Amino acid sequence: MNSKPNFDQKISFGLQNIELENQQFVRNYPDYLSTNSIDQLREADYSILDRQGHVYLDFTGSGLYGESQILTHADLLRNQVFGNPHSTNPTSANMNHLVESTRKTVLDFFHADEEEYVCIFTQNASGALKLIGESYPFSERSKFLLTYDNHNSVNGIREFARKRSASIVYIPMTTPEMRIDEFELTSQLSQLDPNVNNLFAYPAQSNFSGVQHALGWIKSAQEQGWDVLLDAAAFLPTNSLDLSVFHPDFVVLSFYKLFGYPTGVGALIAKRSQLTKLTRPWFAGGTITVASVQGDRHYLHTGPEGFEDGTLNFLNLPAIEIGLRQIKRIGYPTIHLRIETLTKWLLVKLIELKHENGNKLIQVYGPTEMIMRGGTISMNFFDVNGHFIDHGIIEDHANRENISIRTGCFCNPGDGEVALGISKNDLNTCFSMKPRLEYKDLRSCIDGKSTGAVRISIGLVSNFSDVYKFVELASKFVNKSLSEL
Ligand SMILES: Cc1ncc(COP(=O)(O)O)c(C=O)c1O
Repeated sequence: MNSKPNFDQKISFGLQNIELENQQFVRNYPDYLSTNSIDQLREADYSILDRQGHVYLDFTGSGLYGESQILTHADLLRNQVFGNPHSTNPTSANMNHLVESTRKTVLDFFHADEEEYVCIFTQNASGALKLIGESYPFSERSKFLLTYDNHNSVNGIREFARKRSASIVYIPMTTPEMRIDEFELTSQLSQLDPNVNNLFAYPAQSNFSGVQHALGWIKSAQEQGWDVLLDAAAFLPTNSLDLSVFHPDFVVLSFYKLFGYPTGVGALIAKRSQLTKLTRPWFAGGTITVASVQGDRHYLHTGPEGFEDGTLNFLNLPAIEIGLRQIKRIGYPTIHLRIETLTKWLLVKLIELKHENGNKLIQVYGPTEMIMRGGTISMNFFDVNGHFIDHGIIEDHANRENISIRTGCFCNPGDGEVALGISKNDLNTCFSMKPRLEYKDLRSCIDGKSTGAVRISIGLVSNFSDVYKFVELASKFVNKSLSEL
């Protein structure tokens, strides 16, 4: 006989039924009602979510697309003939026209002056970051300054910097807010050799904690001689970026994070004045004006084409304009307000959940107030005796209820290590264990600590029911011991 209690039995622990909670939510956050155009959009364009009973809480992983986006895109493909844009024939010209209008739409979307910025299409944000890494003129006295809070695709640039003997400096974070140590940032920004190239990279929003880092750092870093790389991948799905107000040298993004479809297209939005500084390590089809075998010469395009290797993902590019229209249709202020109210409710409810003996159920990593934070929340669960509940267990339970969440460290090891209290010494011990570590080795080596967390993130079409269902799931862990899970 199974001695475990029925986990799925309805246990509320302070959580009222959805109708009552919804009423109270609207009383506490009446502005939420002004975002009801999102409910209409969800009903019209994302009805598959409710038809199939999905609770989607991984908007930082990927945005979702509306049905109308793919129908409009399919219509375009059905009604026109598109050739490879590298020619001047009629089908190519047709495509070329759309490629160039997409570049312009992207720049317009960010209020970027075409005289100041270019839009380079890449495969994704990581592709854009790699372009910078491989082309940036790091030299021996250069610095690559970056925050602990960064996605691995930004961390990876350090390998290019290292190869060129530049120094790599990380700015640590303060706990429990998981914000960058501003004192250290100010000090590091003032320490550079202005005669060489120096790059400062940070995310506008953390994909781990949802922390939003100040866009004001861009100007102060540039004034001291830094080039600034802003990773906007996790920020843009729910926040506008105005490049007529802020002027980073480089911005990277993936479009599927904003509106779900298409995948396989990202962008590097770069200052024209900085393109000449970047030296590509090779050339490829599409990137050159002339290349010769016998003459052993090549000349790169000076514009965005010089950075777009081979044939663009051209048939997908028109879907970018369609997706950007979807965001504009709702508008960032509405999206932002919805994210703010739902996240606030989530934070209050998750922190309130306690075991009957007073022990906390959930530890949220990062800010628990809505100041300078987005709709991404990372956390760990603890059983009634205060032991970590492995994030895999939470994910299993969520999966069974058709709730899509993310677990692990989300490609942001700096945040993960700080949040989970894993020290440099802990890591050095693990790294000296064997020549090569798999994730499971790290997990078993970091004894008694979790090596990952549970992440939920809300987005464009999230509603109250989505967040309620997660809190309802969480409340089922109240008073449970590890042996019962
Ligand atoms: C902040 C941040 N930067 C960069 C990336 C990399 O994006 P992609 O995997 O689309 O290249 C991600 C992906 O989650 C991210 O959240």
